Amino acid sequence: MTSPQLLGRRSVLTGAAALGVAATGTRAETVFDAVPPLKSITPYPLGVAVKVSQLDDPTWVKLATPNFSRVTPEWEMKMEYLLQADHNLHFDRADRIVDFAHQHGMSVHGHTLIWYALEGGDHFTNLAGKPDAFLDAYVGYITSVMQRYAGRIRSWDVVNEPVRNDGSGLRDCLWSKVLGNDYIGLALEAAKRADPGALRFINDYNLELTPKKRSAFLKMCERLLKDGAPLQGIGTQTHIAADISPQAIRDAMKDIASLGLLVHVSEVDISLQEDHPANLAQPLKHQISTLNALLSAYHDVPAAQRYGLTLWGLRDSDSWINYQKNSGVMNVKPDEPLLFDALGRPKPLTRAFVRAVK
Ligand code: G3I
Repeated sequence: MTSPQLLGRRSVLTGAAALGVAATGTRAETVFDAVPPLKSITPYPLGVAVKVSQLDDPTWVKLATPNFSRVTPEWEMKMEYLLQADHNLHFDRADRIVDFAHQHGMSVHGHTLIWYALEGGDHFTNLAGKPDAFLDAYVGYITSVMQRYAGRIRSWDVVNEPVRNDGSGLRDCLWSKVLGNDYIGLALEAAKRADPGALRFINDYNLELTPKKRSAFLKMCERLLKDGAPLQGIGTQTHIAADISPQAIRDAMKDIASLGLLVHVSEVDISLQEDHPANLAQPLKHQISTLNALLSAYHDVPAAQRYGLTLWGLRDSDSWINYQKNSGVMNVKPDEPLLFDALGRPKPLTRAFVRAVK
């Protein structure tokens, strides 16, 4: 048997092993030991980002469904797909994701309604000079999307990444330009009216890397709560590099949990290439210690506040980090930021997760 065939067979076997299913081949052929279905050993919902193309990939489906209890649409439930140039809402792909999740007993975290980075083409910009009409369209968008999935989507990132990266305040964006900084409270109010049963989150990144940003984010949340905004949860994305200080993770988690809101560790990947891990003597070892620090810090959050932890991709080959500007063209030296390798096999990082999650 030539090596490619052997490798192919190995990946099938270890793919099976990754499901916690006894591999049918000989022991020698399973490159990695089996891991138990991860969602069965995790004391809070374990999520994974999903794209419709992955629903048509049997390897992805066979690996994701026994290991994760929640999905977050990676991009096809965002304005960039839903609201197209014809000014109509295109729910076909988001519907597929929600149907898939429910067919497999998985919950859905809706991502995301309002984001500075997406303006929905000219649908909203055409109304920028008419604040009342703009507000109607803004509330209308949130309402139409949420009501379509009322009762089927448990929670939403109502607003994504509102705070400037340097923590100097809220980002300037189309929404703040027309509606003022109250666009955030208005979105939360509209979300509550649209589907009162869905939990409402604000989601942001670098809350562990940039204490000034974290402080500005939390002050924004406190101000919203003081003003009576129906905010229920914080999403801390946790796109981190292997060389981040474990103390930075612990400090961030403690501060974020201090508001008493639900805490969703919402988009985890631990890059070996971003920032400066190249100067790490043993990047994989540091990646494991960073994962351990994250899981331990999240374990210290009161159980009632632990909304769950979501990986921003299933296999290393699924990671957004590995595609130049999401173009679909893979980078020359792919990163390995997720729990399963490019072939869907568990890694030492996966076994570290099994050991550390509790
Ligand atoms: O699939 C199409 C492909 O057919 C087409 O040829 C190609 C070029 O137009 O686009 C492909 O779709 C892209 C998709 O990623 C592929 O996965 C979309 O254009 C592109 O916009 C989309 O990017 C997503 C990005 O958010 C913007 O929505 C990434 O997948 C997704 O990982 C990223 O996720 C964000 C979170 O929402 C917020 N936090 C940061 C995180 C990473 O940037």
